[in-house]
Amino acid sequence: MYKFKLVLASTLVFWIGGVFAHHLDPDTIKKRIQPSASVYRVGDDVPVAKPAVVATSGPRSGKEIYNTKCSACHGSGVMGAPKLGVASDWEPRVAKGEESLFSHAINGLNAMPPKGTCADCSDDEIKLTVKYMVESSH
Ligand code: HEC
Repeated sequence: MYKFKLVLASTLVFWIGGVFAHHLDPDTIKKRIQPSASVYRVGDDVPVAKPAVVATSGPRSGKEIYNTKCSACHGSGVMGAPKLGVASDWEPRVAKGEESLFSHAINGLNAMPPKGTCADCSDDEIKLTVKYMVESSH
C-alpha cells in the first residue's frame, strides 16, 4: 500500500508539473527549446577551443631555417660571420668543399655555434640551410 501511495504521489507531482509547464512565459520556453549548437557569423568570438599549435612535420626548408635561426648573425656579419648574398665572404669557404661547410655548420667553428644554436635542427636540415646560404651568395 505504501508503494502504491508513492507511485500515486509522484504521478501527481508530474501531472502538476505538466500543468504548470503550460503556463511558462515565452522567454523560458525559448530558452528550453533553443538548439544545442548555435550559428556564429564571421568575426564573432566563437567560444570553441583553438587547436594547439601543430608541430612542424617533415624537414623545414633551408630558407625557413636561415630566416629564423641564422639570419641574426649571417644577415649582418656578426663576429665575422660570412654574410648572405656576399660572394666574397663565401668563396674562400666554399673552396674548401661542401663537406667542410656542413661539418663546421653542424659542429661549430670559432664564433659559429654548433648548428647555429638551432638545437632542434636535424643534420639534414642544417645541410639544406647551408646549401641555401651558398646558393644565395654567388
Ligand atoms: C651567433 C652567430 C651565428 C649564428 C646564429 C649562426 N652562425 Fe654561422 N657563422 C658564424 C660565424 C661568426 C662564422 C664564421 C666562423 C669562422 O670562420 O671563424 C660562421 C660561419 C658559418 C659557416 C661557414 C663555415 C666554414 O666552413 O667556413 C656556415 C656554413 C654557417 N656559419 C652556417 C650557419 C647556419 C646554417 C646557421 C643557422 C642554422 C648559422 N650559421 C647560424 C656565426 C653564426
